[in-house]
Amino acid sequence: MEFNSLVEAALAAKAKALAPYSHFSVGAAVLTSSGRIYDGCNIESSSLGLTICAERLALFKALAAGERSFVAVAVAADSKQVCPPCGACRQVLWDFAPNATVLMISGDGTVKSLPVAELLPLAFDQGVINHDGE
Ligand code: THU
Repeated sequence: MEFNSLVEAALAAKAKALAPYSHFSVGAAVLTSSGRIYDGCNIESSSLGLTICAERLALFKALAAGERSFVAVAVAADSKQVCPPCGACRQVLWDFAPNATVLMISGDGTVKSLPVAELLPLAFDQGVINHDGE
């Protein structure tokens, strides 16, 4: 399958999750246009709202390293159904990786892919702010 190493990176990152409250480990990996892969896992805080999701961490690591162009994002969990990005992550993916494909992976290794744009129809973004009132 295309994106094999990206899926492998997301699965490996899942093992590093810090999820003592939900016991739901998530791993993610983003592929840049330049071919680099950055990974992330969910990290939960005792103040639960401070938790960061795996895909946002992977994307923020890449952005902090100076990356600006993304091809694909993989998200893996041990769930029965493929693990879709939460609503907050969909917004951040739209903001920074609008042209990316999202690969969602279940515990049995099933992969389902959808473009970011299809995961967040009628998205709010900078364009709404800039063109308001026109
Ligand atoms: N989680 C992610 O890491 N990514 C998602 O898109 C879905 C939710 C994490 C957050 C929390 O640590 C756990 O899964 C349960 O919600």
